[in-house]
Amino acid sequence: MASPKMYSVPEISCEHCVTAITAEVTQVPNVASVEVNIDARTVTVQGGKSSQIVAAIDEAGYDAARIRGAATAEQQLDDGVVRVTRWTFPPGSETGAHVHQYDYVVVPITDGELTIEADGETTVAPLSIGVSYQRGKGVAHNVANDGDAPVAFVEVELLDN
Ligand code: NI
Repeated sequence: MASPKMYSVPEISCEHCVTAITAEVTQVPNVASVEVNIDARTVTVQGGKSSQIVAAIDEAGYDAARIRGAATAEQQLDDGVVRVTRWTFPPGSETGAHVHQYDYVVVPITDGELTIEADGETTVAPLSIGVSYQRGKGVAHNVANDGDAPVAFVEVELLDN
């Protein structure tokens, strides 16, 4: 079974919140358990899709943000022309918000989905092994894996642009 997903829900304050959130999240497909912690103001969920869990907590009347760990960056090459970094995203991890200083190419080395947070919008980007894509300098976003399997890609930054 996949590891539990944890959400920060700052407005949790009482048993009423616990009842309302539990009732909504329990209805999300494939959710096996829901645990609401009033003191920590967190909701821990076993099973279910993250986007649907956030929507269910919203339906109960609360804002929820997934609590994620850090993706890992392994720099493989920097010769002054290109910088090559392997990014690995365990389930429930993120890069943190960043701004790209250079044009770059992403080469997925797993299939999967990444959650992209930019300008207050959340989108989901599918990845396919070996299907590369390019983005321009100045891109600002947070990149996360809200799925249940690890996701990884190699990033190639073009330093002399
Ligand atoms: Ni990025």
